[in-house]
Amino acid sequence: MDHFWVRRYGPWAVVAGAALGLGAEFCRQLAALGANLVMVALETDELDDLAAELRDQHGIETVTLTADLGTRKGLNEVIDATGELDVGLLVYNAGLSATAPFLDTPLSRHLAIVDVNIRGPLTLLDAFVPAMVERGRGGVILLSSMSSLTGTPLVSTYAATKAFTRNLAETLWDELAPDGVHVTAVLPGPTDTPGYRSSAPRPTRLTAQPMSVTPVVAETLAALGRRPTIVPGRPNRVAATVIERVLPRRMAVRFMGRTMRAMYARK
Ligand SMILES: NC(=O)c1ccc[n+]([C@@H]2O[C@H](COP(=O)([O-])OP(=O)(O)OC[C@H]3O[C@@H](n4cnc5c(N)ncnc54)[C@H](OP(=O)(O)O)[C@@H]3O)[C@@H](O)[C@H]2O)c1
Repeated sequence: MDHFWVRRYGPWAVVAGAALGLGAEFCRQLAALGANLVMVALETDELDDLAAELRDQHGIETVTLTADLGTRKGLNEVIDATGELDVGLLVYNAGLSATAPFLDTPLSRHLAIVDVNIRGPLTLLDAFVPAMVERGRGGVILLSSMSSLTGTPLVSTYAATKAFTRNLAETLWDELAPDGVHVTAVLPGPTDTPGYRSSAPRPTRLTAQPMSVTPVVAETLAALGRRPTIVPGRPNRVAATVIERVLPRRMAVRFMGRTMRAMYARK
């Protein structure tokens, strides 16, 4: 158990979107650091199995919660369930996407993406950060994406919400630093998770080998308190530098469009 981690951030971490993929890996690595976990997901089966495994392996405490983070009711359930706990870290991991041209995506889906990817983190930040500031310690990790770097055809609203997330994290990194609260946004590239696999992308030169969740989460936890944003994986960092700093904006958008169509355009 890493007592330093628990002393620095506090005894409890909330992982919103915890059952699978990156969220489950955040739970594994935080449990190894000695953090007790509030684990939230839509379904309980995988969540309860993972919680039992982590309690056995690391002697931590867990609270599991089924809640839809895209609804005010679900968010209130998370806030109510954590009322008595000293929450030192919030990981907002849940994310909703749609892979289709903007006009082929119903408005209801665009708005659902905004609910899960923007209203959810804003609501939980509002609920958890004031107590962190009062205690003078805490941390927040927000899941952005490399699609936040520039307009990204076929995932328009998703990419826009991830740009919002990244910008918000950068601002909070600065605003909350004097209060001892660390904020970092992670911008993963393609990462091997159930969510990524179920979107069934075709491999391209850039995306043939999605990263494993283990280094993505390890690099993110290492960046907390050091950097406002982290792009895990060296090849992704090179690609991000080219997209952001080398290519003119219109070429960067075209490049993302070509890559996305190669991965997802209908066969
Ligand atoms: N994988 C990638 O390539 C990649 C790349 C860039 C960014 N990201 C970002 O990383 C984050 C995690 O992605 P992932 O690929 O690990 O996803 P994933 O495999 O689909 O897992 C998402 C987790 O979040 C939970 N969740 C989703 N919507 C929820 C909701 N409305 N309420 C409560 N829980 C919800 C799911 O719960 P259930 O299991 O119960 O459904 C699941 O445990 C997302 O924000 C995504 O945008 C991923």
